[in-house]
Amino acid sequence: MKFKALTAIAALIVAPGLAMADPDDDTMIINGEVEMITKTAVPEHMSDTAVSELMSGWHFRSDETQALQMDDFDNPGMIFVDEGMAQWETVEGTEGNSCASCHEDPSSMKGVRAVYPKWNEDAGEVRTLAMQINACRTENMGAEPYKYTGGEMANMEALIALQSRGMPINVAIDGPVADVWEQGKELYYTRTGQLELSCANCHEDNYGNMIRADHLSQGQINGFPTYRLKNAKLNTVHARFKGCVRDTRAETFKPGGPEFTALELYVASRGNGLSVEGPSVRN
Ligand code: HEC
Ligand code: HEC
Repeated sequence: MKFKALTAIAALIVAPGLAMADPDDDTMIINGEVEMITKTAVPEHMSDTAVSELMSGWHFRSDETQALQMDDFDNPGMIFVDEGMAQWETVEGTEGNSCASCHEDPSSMKGVRAVYPKWNEDAGEVRTLAMQINACRTENMGAEPYKYTGGEMANMEALIALQSRGMPINVAIDGPVADVWEQGKELYYTRTGQLELSCANCHEDNYGNMIRADHLSQGQINGFPTYRLKNAKLNTVHARFKGCVRDTRAETFKPGGPEFTALELYVASRGNGLSVEGPSVRN
């Protein structure tokens, strides 16, 4: 099994050795003002992994792509923040409410992105930010939920993430979330698909290597939602997970379902200490 996975990864990786392109040492300062934490010490729970330092996916992108994220006028993701703002103020549903009716200005969401997914005591479940947004829509507005990985959801997530820009990710992994976190960890290390590759085979064992035409990062989610040049739109965490699972030629899990929720909690915790970057820019 292990041998097969190694063969699969070896076949995918372009000229190992030669292609070992180190992530760069640039500093991300947004609008010449906000300095971001894009490299930091690994959290305690990762001390037994091969990862020696956490790095934002930004370090693995080209100078041109990096520059787009450093200026809000150039960041194509910011248009979607404006759309999210319009949604924030729009009354929808049977209760006559908008988000603003209860939460006033989006700045009331400062700090929220940094701690999700998190435990919701009343519901007795781990909630992703997307789940919480939809809970507010259905329970507090009497409105239809947004499609889990759809454009409106991504816009709203971008607006909320922006309020925490620069703050370090700080998701809890113990207490009531511990079981779900363990489940997410197991998924992260499980080899799937015809290629028999786990998330870790690519994002832990091979970050820094070139895979096909791509510079492999640590697969962090501190930059989500992410504007991708490839599809020219904002991409949500679960849509990205789905794409990566499909790349191993495996059946994927349902976006918004329990498996990806657990995986999101675990992957988020692998970024504890990195700045919230959403909306980031990637290729
Ligand atoms: C009728 C009032 C009401 C409306 C309308 C409403 N919410 Fe909420 N929302 C709440 C309450 C109550 C909570 C839970 C208590 C808290 O965390 O402040 C909450 C919590 C949240 C949280 C989690 C905050 C945290 O600290 O964990 C987010 C995110 C959120 N709402 C987003 C939205 C969005 C986006 C909309 C519009 C689509 C919306 N809400 C509409 C009442 C509302
Ligand atoms: C075959 C190798 C491979 C596997 C296996 C894989 N990925 Fe990826 N992933 C990639 C590539 C290539 C990219 C794009 C370049 C990059 O950002 O690393 C990527 C990107 C990502 C990103 C975006 C990072 C950013 O900064 O925007 C996330 C998040 C991610 N992967 C998570 C996962 C998770 C979770 C799993 C397991 C379910 C997984 N990946 C499995 C190859 C893989």
